[in-house]
Amino acid sequence: MSTVNEHKSGLKLELSGISKSFPGVKVLSGVNLTFYPGKVNALMGENGAGKSTLLKILTGIYSDYEGQIFMDDKAVTFTSLKDAKLAGIAMIHQELSLITQLTVSENLFLGQEINDAWSLPNKKKMGEVAQALLDKLGLKFSVDTLVSQLSVGEQQMLEIARVLLTDARIILMDEPTSALSDKEILRLHEVIRQLTIEGKTIVYISHKMDELFRIADNYVVLRDGVVTGQGKMTEISEEALIRMMVGRDIVVNKKINSSAQSQSALIVNNLFMAHPTIKGKLRLDHINLEVKKGEIVGIFGLMGAGRSELLHCIFGAYKSSASIAINGKSVVIKSPREAIANGLAFVTEDRKEEGLVLDLPLTSNINLTKSDGSWVVNEAKELALSNDFIQKLGIKTPSAQQLCKNLSGGNQQKVVLSKWLATEPDVLMLDEPTRGIDLNAKNDIYELIKSLADSGMSILMASSEIPELLAICDRILVMSEGKITASFSADEANEDKLLKAAI
Ligand SMILES: Nc1ncnc2c1ncn2[C@@H]1O[C@H](COP(=O)(O)OP(=O)(O)OP(=O)(O)O)[C@@H](O)[C@H]1O
Ligand SMILES: [Mg+2]
Repeated sequence: MSTVNEHKSGLKLELSGISKSFPGVKVLSGVNLTFYPGKVNALMGENGAGKSTLLKILTGIYSDYEGQIFMDDKAVTFTSLKDAKLAGIAMIHQELSLITQLTVSENLFLGQEINDAWSLPNKKKMGEVAQALLDKLGLKFSVDTLVSQLSVGEQQMLEIARVLLTDARIILMDEPTSALSDKEILRLHEVIRQLTIEGKTIVYISHKMDELFRIADNYVVLRDGVVTGQGKMTEISEEALIRMMVGRDIVVNKKINSSAQSQSALIVNNLFMAHPTIKGKLRLDHINLEVKKGEIVGIFGLMGAGRSELLHCIFGAYKSSASIAINGKSVVIKSPREAIANGLAFVTEDRKEEGLVLDLPLTSNINLTKSDGSWVVNEAKELALSNDFIQKLGIKTPSAQQLCKNLSGGNQQKVVLSKWLATEPDVLMLDEPTRGIDLNAKNDIYELIKSLADSGMSILMASSEIPELLAICDRILVMSEGKITASFSADEANEDKLLKAAI
């Protein structure tokens, strides 16, 4: 295998008349497009538009498609992952695929070991190459860290590092930044720029418009499996792109009014959590917060501020000490089960951890956590509930019986949300609830959160997207290094103040 420093330049990738169906659904119809070398080629479209499917065809995962693929004007067919890899195509998948029980270095070199003259694994060399790569990406953890100890964002960076180790000429990135902090995104963009200077062909999927305008040179838009536009980023406006994706104009992040009442729904006092690895240090330090009935409270903070940990602690998933009251009654929560019994629900940022059972239908997943105490499954009732969510959240699926593994990434996220909403909690905690969700569906989710608050549910929501917090929260708390450093009402808050308090 080659090292990080060896560069093979990119290739032009042309698709002609590509169509692909799954039983009962036509996902791509007659797709013609070109991805250019030395450029960042953005692939855009709503959840379920067919973006990931297209990339899976290009990596040989799906070989039963119609149409032709050309690399530098030569027709190619890939019938396996290996074919595509040999042709120089590598992909960073939407879902994390690391082995969390192995170290950083072991994951990096899995299936691509560096051997010494005796064909034995050259641990020293691999350690050096791994360290150089981590440095290049600005990653501060050691190559011997277990992957299970990394944050979701760090794991995502590692996925990217793994692909950079190969000598790929065409790099396909399926939502690489959905789990990254702003700082990590900047660093990744620097690396991508370097790759285009080396001449590599980058294909880049993202739902974040601002980032696409920063990094992409070209765009291709898919709507329901059909190309609705392609061209240069400098020659197109955001509005025009949205129209190509959605088919009409939409207003993003519009401000909505508060429905908070005076009764308190959740009170957390004196919450402390010990640092998991540094003895004598606190990870969360003296947290006090309150969420009123019908109130939407946001938590902002930079990566590592402790937002996710705080929600895990309140939910009984991490060990901490605190006094907690729900609806005015003091409660003891030592496990997620007790949290649910006390009227809490928690949508974590990690879809895998969420325990979406991919091999089960959507309806079973939605009804998974909702236990009414009876042993009899009322299928008609479950289906009605599922169809209700499919309609309310605009989940793109042929039916409620569709297996979750066949849904697109964004639609899986909507199922996760439905599953917890189905428990009808008093207090709903959300961690990055719209990660991987397209612009239009984000609006649907904001409307839904707002209507839940109107009906008396209380929402505590961590997010790294300031516009999202400003659009729907009644109040925003800011965390920094395990402490709450500021609290703003909806009227007081703005981007500047939030960022200042977060640093
Ligand atoms: N194995 C499969 N079986 C049946 N349907 C599938 C399968 N894989 C994908 N689909 C369907 O194909 C459509 C396109 O899915 P795809 O994953 O390509 O969307 P996407 O554009 O990547 O969306 P997202 O932004 O949510 O990731 C979706 O409606 C999805 O449900
Ligand atoms: Mg996708």
